[in-house]
Amino acid sequence: MEKYTIEIPIQKFQLNELSDEERFWIDTAVISAKQAYAPYSEFYVGAVVVLANGKIVTGNNQENIAYPSGMCAERVALYYAGARYPDVPVKAIVIVAVKDGVVQKNISPCGSCRQVLLETETRFKQPVRVYLGGNEETHIIDSAEALLPVSFKSF
Ligand code: THU
Repeated sequence: MEKYTIEIPIQKFQLNELSDEERFWIDTAVISAKQAYAPYSEFYVGAVVVLANGKIVTGNNQENIAYPSGMCAERVALYYAGARYPDVPVKAIVIVAVKDGVVQKNISPCGSCRQVLLETETRFKQPVRVYLGGNEETHIIDSAEALLPVSFKSF
């Protein structure tokens, strides 16, 4: 028997260590979060997808009284980017969450969104940088693949 360990490299940045552009993405994600339709959870998530053509696409969670019909912010943004700019690689995604009017710390995307982020990387054959949270600090993971270790692959 052999044991192995998988490590996930995460960089923690204070907001003042980021570029103006990165801080703009975070501010835009917060605005998008506040525009989410989340009357059931009251947990407002915003995402900004940064494309290789310099454009950004925003998304937020869209809930439904039939709960599973709702959709996470990350996938709203990624699917919209895929629909609007099908040939343009995704460079990064910024994810924030707002609860009780407060931008949350230590947020992390759900498993389904990780799966879709991974597909975005394989589709465009380049890493998607993931920014998590925008309250005083943001955690950056250089590739979405790190968020879904031992992932499903077709054979
Ligand atoms: N949510 C997201 O938008 N992204 C995630 O990665 C996890 C959860 C949403 C779904 C639901 O509308 C609310 O947050 C509470 O779970």
